[in-house]
Amino acid sequence: MEEDGVKSWVMAVTAQTPTNIAVIKYWGKRDESLILPINDSISITLDPAHLCTTTSVAVSPSFTHDRMWLNGKEISLSGGRFQNCLRELRSRANDVEDVEKGVKIAKKDWDNMHVHIVSYNNFPTAAGLASSAAGLACLVFSLAKLMNVKEDHSTLSAIARQGSGSACRSLYGGFVKWIMGKEENGSDSIAVQLADEKHWDDLVIIIAVVSSRQKETSSTSGMRDTVETSALVEHRAKVVVPKRIIQMEEAIKNRDFPAFAALTCADSNQFHAVALDTCPPIFYMNDTSHRQVLFLIISRVEKWNRFEGTPQVAYTFDAGPNAVLISRDRKTAALLLQRLLFYFPPQSETDLNSYVIGDKTILQDAGIQKVDDIETLAPPPETNANIPVHRYKGDVSYFICTGPGRGPVVLTDENQSLIDPKTGLPK
Ligand code: DP6
Repeated sequence: MEEDGVKSWVMAVTAQTPTNIAVIKYWGKRDESLILPINDSISITLDPAHLCTTTSVAVSPSFTHDRMWLNGKEISLSGGRFQNCLRELRSRANDVEDVEKGVKIAKKDWDNMHVHIVSYNNFPTAAGLASSAAGLACLVFSLAKLMNVKEDHSTLSAIARQGSGSACRSLYGGFVKWIMGKEENGSDSIAVQLADEKHWDDLVIIIAVVSSRQKETSSTSGMRDTVETSALVEHRAKVVVPKRIIQMEEAIKNRDFPAFAALTCADSNQFHAVALDTCPPIFYMNDTSHRQVLFLIISRVEKWNRFEGTPQVAYTFDAGPNAVLISRDRKTAALLLQRLLFYFPPQSETDLNSYVIGDKTILQDAGIQKVDDIETLAPPPETNANIPVHRYKGDVSYFICTGPGRGPVVLTDENQSLIDPKTGLPK
């Protein structure tokens, strides 16, 4: 590219960032614009091989304004949250030089340089699978690399937090705590890693995607209404969560599954109780067919756990109609998948390969090779033989088998870049 005799260039960075699922939920802010929460939260980072955002960011003297494309569509960057993240990053940018390309950006130049951001999720956006978390974390992480921001991940987490609260927890792999902090400026409201993904890699996570539809009440407005109207939420934030955070940290440290499962299920249920205690009430499990599926999952898991005498599986639900099930090990995961497929068989024409995605080895362990194998599954032993069991064919869209995963990484292979190195536009 040559403009007015001045050699132009495009410099790009690509990164991949995981999503996360909270096991102690964040619900409620004490500061809306800085995104400061009313309680600490804890999450598991999910394996980016199955759920992640890939983002390429580029800078060029030929760019006239900041632009972003998400999943192939250009979106506006004018929102306060994007602007806060961009401003925080620009203020920490440093000199960048690439002699080969003839690139030289001085620290002070970043204020006048524009960026292009191209981002893809490998899972449904806004379906309650925390796509905004992975997306915002990836935007912040990749721009920080491009701009040679030298701050550590916890500072980057405080920037990502200003894009979307749960995003701050996606800056680390494994088990992550978002410390609510005390400072008014939010400087101590950061994410820290409790343990990396290898610490407890027995855990297998199966997500039942009940609907890929966009959720009806956004988390942002939902939690605002909760803080303004719920009498329960204050008790939750001040009394219940502080205790649970200590207990959950212990459970994770000791790989104590029974304690982990009890806390995870209780906290998910309390989050939904607090949502229901909001005026007007928020039912995240609202649609009739979804409600049936999600309640069935809860009651079957509770029944199985009681039947075994100790928890085999934990469930947790965010602000969307999808169930996240965490099983203690691979053996239990295979038994869980058999149960899930027993209750929720696919439509006859569905291909098994697209019905159970992610880590397919769980499917092999469950002894299921084809859709016909699902038809012949026996009812789980904990079911009462005298009560006829109902199977809900086609009520689940698909299942994702995954586990705890690593934090953000830079992808160095140019073929993985989403930006055309000549035009600076999406490929
Ligand atoms: C139920 O992080 O999406 O998933 O900060 O307003 O962007 P904003 O909300 P968001 O809320 C997530 C809420 C949750 C629980 C959690 O992830 O901790």
